[in-house]
Amino acid sequence: MLRHHPVLAKETYENLPHPLRLSFDGTFWHGGHVEYFFTHLEQDNPDECKNLKIVACDVDEKVMAKWKEFVAQRKNQISFYHSSYANIKEISQKEWLFDFMLLDLWVNLEHFKDGSRGFSIKSDAPLDMRFDTSKWQLASHLINKWSKEELEEMLIKYGDFTPRNAEYVVKWIIEKRKKSPIETTSDLTTTLHELWFWDKRIAVIFQAIRIQTNHELDQLETFLKDFWECLNIGGRCAIMTYHSIEDRMTKIAFKELEESGNFHLVNKKVIQPNYKEVEANKAARSAKLRIIEKVK
Ligand SMILES: C[S@@+](CC[C@H](N)C(=O)[O-])C[C@H]1O[C@@H](n2cnc3c(N)ncnc32)[C@H](O)[C@@H]1O
Repeated sequence: MLRHHPVLAKETYENLPHPLRLSFDGTFWHGGHVEYFFTHLEQDNPDECKNLKIVACDVDEKVMAKWKEFVAQRKNQISFYHSSYANIKEISQKEWLFDFMLLDLWVNLEHFKDGSRGFSIKSDAPLDMRFDTSKWQLASHLINKWSKEELEEMLIKYGDFTPRNAEYVVKWIIEKRKKSPIETTSDLTTTLHELWFWDKRIAVIFQAIRIQTNHELDQLETFLKDFWECLNIGGRCAIMTYHSIEDRMTKIAFKELEESGNFHLVNKKVIQPNYKEVEANKAARSAKLRIIEKVK
C-alpha cells in the first residue's frame, strides 16, 4: 500500500528504461516513487524487480527514520546517503553508473506540517527553513544581515517581484529590523501584513527565502552539470520541478545535451499531472516532468 501520492508516479514508471538494474533517487523523502516502482515492477517484471538496486539520498536528516522503515522491507536492495543530489559524481564513484535517475524537487509536506522548522507561514517558529540543519545559514540570518540589494535581488529572482515592488518590501523589512531583529515566522508575517500583503503573497516571499537559504538553484545547477557522466548508455534522467526557474534550467540543460548528439529527449513536451491527480493531490498542480536518455 502506498503511503502517499508520489507526483506523476505512473508517468515516471512508464518511462523507466529497461533493463533497470541501478537507480538513483536524489530526493527520497518517504520513498514514494521508489515504492511505486517496486510495487508495479513486482507484477510487470518480477526478475527485474528482484535484482533492482536503489541508491537514495536526501539532505533532510529527518528522512533517515523513514528510510530505515523502508529498508526493513527491502533489505539489500537500497542504500541511503544523507547527502545532496548535487554530490551525484561522488555517489556514483562509490556505487556505479546508473540506469535511471530521479529528482522530485520542492519541499516535502512534513516541512510544512512540522511547524517548528520555519517553513510555514501558519505556525510560529524560529526562521530556520534549512532542509539540512547541519549546513547553511538560518533564514533569519539572511533577513537580518543581508544588504538591501541582496534582498531585492532574491525577491526579483525567486519571487518574480518587479524591482519596484522588491524595493518597497525590502525597505520595510530593513526599517523593521533596525528596531528589532526579525527572528521568527510571526515576526516576518506581521511585518508583511503591515504592508497589507495577503497570505498568498507572503507565501511567495517565504518560498523565495527558502530557495535562497538552501541554495536550491545552485544544487540543481551542479547536478545538471554532472549527472550525465554518471548515466549508463540507454540510461535516463527524470527531473520533476515545481518552480518556473527550475523548469527553465532543466529545459536548457537537457536541450544542450540533446544538441551534443549523445542524448535524446524522451518527452518533447513537458509532462504535467492530469486534473484527476491534481484533484487528489493539490501539491502536484505545478509539477513538470522532463526526461532525457543517454544514447551514446
Ligand atoms: C517532494 S520531496 C520528494 C518526495 C519523494 N519523491 C516521495 O515521493 O516520497 C523532496 C525531497 O527533496 C529533499 N531535498 C531538497 N533538496 C535536496 C538536495 N539538494 N539533495 C537531496 N535532497 C533534497 C527534501 O528534503 C525532500 O525530502
